[in-house]
Amino acid sequence: MSQSPNSDTPNINPASVGPLLAQLGAPLLAVSTHANGVDNAQIAVTASAASIVLHRPRVIVQIYHTNYTHQLIAESGVMALNFLSPEQLPLIWQLGMHSGRDGDKLVDIPYERGVTGSPILTGGFGYLDCRVVNAMDGGDMTAFLAEVVAGATHGGQPLRWRDARPRLPQQWADEWDRKIAGEMAVSEIAMDTVNPAAWANRTFKGS
Ligand SMILES: Cc1cc2nc3c(=O)[nH]c(=O)nc-3n(C[C@H](O)[C@H](O)[C@H](O)COP(=O)(O)O)c2cc1C
Repeated sequence: MSQSPNSDTPNINPASVGPLLAQLGAPLLAVSTHANGVDNAQIAVTASAASIVLHRPRVIVQIYHTNYTHQLIAESGVMALNFLSPEQLPLIWQLGMHSGRDGDKLVDIPYERGVTGSPILTGGFGYLDCRVVNAMDGGDMTAFLAEVVAGATHGGQPLRWRDARPRLPQQWADEWDRKIAGEMAVSEIAMDTVNPAAWANRTFKGS
């Protein structure tokens, strides 16, 4: 690991570490939630399993502060991870490139309500319905630790970003490139706003 001179900012070559980080992505998820009578969902690929106890599954999901979904999860403490199937590719456009702040994104998408009240999208590879138990602030995003309270695998295959990306219509791909460039600029500033006391004053039970 190298460091920029006179700076704590690491000197990273994205082309060199990008292939490694791409290996850490989850399948494409529609992260849905319900708060104060409002339903919403967004696309996410930053999720992982977070429990070794088979009958007490937990997940960690990273949601960006600026997303409407973040506001709703923070209010309600509930979310469902809907694993997309290859047939659900259009949901990337509907849920991942627009905000629920600009209109009801679920209006044309069939769903039922899960145990937590979160929308469970019809079809797909399966779903996990979850209640948040803790959260870590990353400055630009929050890593939510959540307990799985219900779920089912429907079968078929999950859709992965590396397979979906080349199938996107050009207009969607261009829109995504524009959106992510703007969000990277916001994140680069916001990620330095993590409260240093949270790590400096760390205490861990049982270690
Ligand atoms: C392929 C893809 C992956 C994404 N991964 C994440 C993610 O892991 N976390 C996140 O917060 N947003 C992610 N997004 C962005 C949100 O889905 C997007 O900003 C969405 O418009 C937010 O909607 P909302 O404002 O209704 O919550 C992803 C988008 C796409 C297209």
